[in-house]
Amino acid sequence: MRILGVNCLNHDAAMAVVDGKEILWAAHAERYSKIKNDQFLNWNIVNEALSYSPDMVVYYEKPWLKKLRQLRAGQYGYAFDMGELPSRYLKQFGIKIDEYVSHHHSHMAGGYYTAPFKDADILTIDAIGEFETITLWNNEKKVKSWSYPYSLGLLYSAMTKRIGLKPNEEEYITMGMAAYGKPLYSEAIRRLLLNENNHKGIGDFAPHADIMDLAASVQEVYEEELERLVRRYCKKDKLILSGGCALNCVANSLLEKEIWIMPNPGDSGSALGCIPAFTRQHLDWKGTFLGYNIEGEYPVDEIIKELETNKIVGVANGRAEFGPRALGNRSLLADPRGDDIKDKVNAIKKRQKFRPFAPAILLEDVHDYFDMPQEASPYMQFVGKCKYPKEFPAIVHYDGTSRIQTVTKEDNEGFYNLLKTWKEKTGCPMLLNTSLNIKGKPMVNDKTDGEIFARKYSVKVV
Ligand SMILES: [Fe+2]
Repeated sequence: MRILGVNCLNHDAAMAVVDGKEILWAAHAERYSKIKNDQFLNWNIVNEALSYSPDMVVYYEKPWLKKLRQLRAGQYGYAFDMGELPSRYLKQFGIKIDEYVSHHHSHMAGGYYTAPFKDADILTIDAIGEFETITLWNNEKKVKSWSYPYSLGLLYSAMTKRIGLKPNEEEYITMGMAAYGKPLYSEAIRRLLLNENNHKGIGDFAPHADIMDLAASVQEVYEEELERLVRRYCKKDKLILSGGCALNCVANSLLEKEIWIMPNPGDSGSALGCIPAFTRQHLDWKGTFLGYNIEGEYPVDEIIKELETNKIVGVANGRAEFGPRALGNRSLLADPRGDDIKDKVNAIKKRQKFRPFAPAILLEDVHDYFDMPQEASPYMQFVGKCKYPKEFPAIVHYDGTSRIQTVTKEDNEGFYNLLKTWKEKTGCPMLLNTSLNIKGKPMVNDKTDGEIFARKYSVKVV
């Protein structure tokens, strides 16, 4: 049985196709429409999905339950907008939904059925599903849940908006800002957790506060709550985190458990998660490179040559990453050594100056360079203290940590060979790795996107 999983009309539409245990394909709508975090589907992604000839369609949440919650929350515009119903919306693409699974069930299943182990506690934390905001599972059995309005994710998003960033998108910047601030507002923010209306934002909360302090405060509240939940309810050695909050790599790194997080734990990942939620079958997880394929050998020699001459190079090769992080196939790579490289990459990325870039490093070398909270971090989900921050200032944050990607041959053979060759030539086992995208646009998807990027920034893309 070939099943198509769909997520749309939320904040990052996605589709996935699974055949039995095998994940055939999974992709984000934004990469095809070129609209960042696109909530709508488009014919390009739909045609690619339908080329796999799925036998049935599963949707990642229960729309009528969601409407009921919107009604109770006073969001009448959304509640009465029937165009918002996925069954109606998908008609234009000739897609008929056969099954619906609940939002948190999809999150749980995306984590549990892709995990390398089968006995674990699963903690799902996000802004909001239909009603649920936190759920706790013993393997695939739900044991506890918390519901709207109590929501760590909604609170974090509301604070992200208060800080002046985009909610549901830029929470990772809030997390990065936290290192610069003091948690002076934690108590007040903790009280906000009991607020009825965090979905409407928190207005002008603490109007004279330094935004770095606000970020530090909301991060502290989230970390404390996460640690409390894990200590109290998760008694197994192994833990699976899912839901958008599982992208908080700083908080994840505080937990003393063996942890699995699917590389796309937010709602877009539920386009995949909803499928095993329905079939209850473990998936044969081979990694995150599940999207559009740019054919050709991984261009190791070309990349090295470009790094040696210009220190910076774009890579658009192989299947695209399913998830928010570029992990070697749609990456902008740079030599991480020295003081000037951060400015050079930032001239392209135009990010806030205080944000560092991430290192990709061979797994066999990671413990020599970083204090790791986990054995590996193949999807940049954990942070570790860098042992040589002065040598690699571009990839070290203000607090001395780095958001690390460890690389093995099994993860990505081409990228592994690149890092190995780079190390042999230079003695440096890592590269700076950031996503290959034009500012404000989604990651490059196909060859043409790569060519447009290369022209715009005068950077070679191979
Ligand atoms: Fe969610």
